[in-house]
Amino acid sequence: MTTSMKLLTRIIMIGCRKGGVTKTTTTVNLGYELSQHGKRVLVLDFDGQGDSTKFYGREDSEFYIGDALLDRKFDITKAIYPAIINDIEQENLHIIPGRRGDIMTKLDMDMISLTRREERLKLHLDKIKDNYDFILIDTNPGTSVLGLNAVMAATEYLFPTEYKEHSLDGVETLLEHIQDVKFVEEEEIKFMVVPSKISKTAKKALDYGTGYLAERWPNNTANTTIWDRSLFTEAEMEHEPASVINRGHVAARYYKELAKEVIANV
Ligand SMILES: Nc1ncnc2c1ncn2[C@@H]1O[C@H](COP(=O)(O)OP(=O)(O)O)[C@@H](O)[C@H]1O
Ligand SMILES: [Mg+2]
Repeated sequence: MTTSMKLLTRIIMIGCRKGGVTKTTTTVNLGYELSQHGKRVLVLDFDGQGDSTKFYGREDSEFYIGDALLDRKFDITKAIYPAIINDIEQENLHIIPGRRGDIMTKLDMDMISLTRREERLKLHLDKIKDNYDFILIDTNPGTSVLGLNAVMAATEYLFPTEYKEHSLDGVETLLEHIQDVKFVEEEEIKFMVVPSKISKTAKKALDYGTGYLAERWPNNTANTTIWDRSLFTEAEMEHEPASVINRGHVAARYYKELAKEVIANV
């Protein structure tokens, strides 16, 4: 007799208390590669710059994440849009857009006075998460009500980090914050640290970073390293994943490997 088991949706917050460490690049590329594995993926743009929204071609959307967060009765499916890659609407890759700058700041302030303000994302996602295998949340480095919603809704965390003290500190700080918000110890948190934008030639940084990760998080460091490659800057300018911009490029493989690792890390 076979029993069909419902797989749980994995809700992954991509975060670090430091800007420019490739949170957005990781979200949009990983999201795409997961969808290429046939996984159903939803990306949420919680960053105040709308970078992943732009990347997936949805900056002119009618609705955005704030419409759901501010209104319990809002039908969140109305704010879900297929990502546009290579002018094609993706079947397995969707996004709930964010907005830029002032609108997200105002949203954050408006949410402060609402009941269950930290749980609102989780409560909305409960209604739709069964439609997805993965939900990825792109965040910004700061603390905010929006950020708290991401922490509360996530079932696991992915921290991209450079091999720099500030960037590693940014992981430590966020990890402490998650413990406080969720009332848990570090061992109870499911997370993966991903070395990203790593230069192969900066020998000192390489030693420092690999040493730090091996000692501090031997069981939570990704096997995949995202090396520093200009392909990612080009890909960002074109609003396309690295593997779409240049299939044959060595750097097109990085996020494919990370996607495999994330899928295997159940
Ligand atoms: N592996 C990489 N190699 C080189 N540049 C990268 C890489 N990943 C991202 N970048 C570039 O680094 C900058 C910051 O990345 P971004 O994803 O916007 O960071 P964050 O979202 O954490 O602020 C962007 O200009 C991006 O194109
Ligand atoms: Mg970003």
